[in-house]
Amino acid sequence: MHRIISKKKIAEDIFKIVLEAPVVAAKRKAGQFVVLRPEETSERIPLTIFDSDAGKGTITIIVQVVGKTTRKIASLGEGENLLDVAGPLGNPTHVERKGNIAVVGGGVGTAVAYPVAKAFKEEGNNVMGIIGARTKDLIILEDEMSAITSELFITTDDGSYGRKGFVTDALKDIIEKNPVAEVLAVGPVPMMKAVCDLTKQYNVKTMVSLNPIMVDGTGMCGACRVTVAGKTRFTCVDGPEFNGHEVDFDELSKRLKGYSDMEKHYIGHKGCNLENKV
Ligand SMILES: Cc1cc2nc3c(=O)[nH]c(=O)nc-3n(C[C@H](O)[C@H](O)[C@H](O)COP(=O)(O)OP(=O)(O)OC[C@H]3O[C@@H](n4cnc5c(N)ncnc54)[C@H](O)[C@@H]3O)c2cc1C
Ligand code: FES
Repeated sequence: MHRIISKKKIAEDIFKIVLEAPVVAAKRKAGQFVVLRPEETSERIPLTIFDSDAGKGTITIIVQVVGKTTRKIASLGEGENLLDVAGPLGNPTHVERKGNIAVVGGGVGTAVAYPVAKAFKEEGNNVMGIIGARTKDLIILEDEMSAITSELFITTDDGSYGRKGFVTDALKDIIEKNPVAEVLAVGPVPMMKAVCDLTKQYNVKTMVSLNPIMVDGTGMCGACRVTVAGKTRFTCVDGPEFNGHEVDFDELSKRLKGYSDMEKHYIGHKGCNLENKV
């Protein structure tokens, strides 16, 4: 059991949760995630470790409510428990001193980008940040990103906050003004693809953190397979970060939609008949 120490709403349907997980907190590195289940009948879902405190034995996760399991997690209060938290999983980010790094977070992807940006900053890099969302209310972690970046650019699709436009508009300006050694982009698949299409033109190395469906998180089930440089890779054990210029984003996008009919069915109904009986 993993007790929820604190829970704070940071945007519509997005929560920052600190929970007890001493074993994970002791080992965790930037870029890694946990696979957790709120209760016995829940799916296992992956969530990035946003931050950790080895002394207190806690980890912080940022959860966006998109479906059944994330809704269950968000419904729990301080003092309640998550059933199991497995991790840390995935490869830590390869961090070295490179100079100028641009970190791009789209929507809840900013929660995944933040620990990586922080690790690059701690290694002595100059980190420039861009965070974007559809609208002002969906911008998250502005203060946290400001604290670790030399410059932070904000974009919203509707112009309600920061610059009107896409993260790629701000990134193009950064690349044209600065010698950028590497870009890290995390967000929805179309955003990561657009970032990679842009950076390819400037020949700037770009890492992306992928978000396929995961089940076991240990390389056994094959659910998280993606094609990178023409080869099948498992995101949970080979990633989650890959060279974005080699990722087959169209295939990833199709695979992510694989269960969308079932998800719509669940959202349209309060639960299946069998589930309601148990
Ligand atoms: C390595 C990794 C790190 C992630 N980090 C975060 C994070 O820090 N914060 C956050 O809010 N979300 C994160 N996600 C996405 C999160 O796992 C999904 O939103 C969650 O699994 C949805 O579950 P659900 O039952 O609420 O929704 P469902 O109704 O089951 O699904 C809604 C959508 O979520 C995605 N999804 C569903 N199940 C999974 C699954 N098992 N694995 C991955 N995606 C799934 C699909 O795109 C699906 O269309 C991460 C995903 C990965 C792979
Ligand atoms: S989640 Fe099962 S192989 Fe990666």
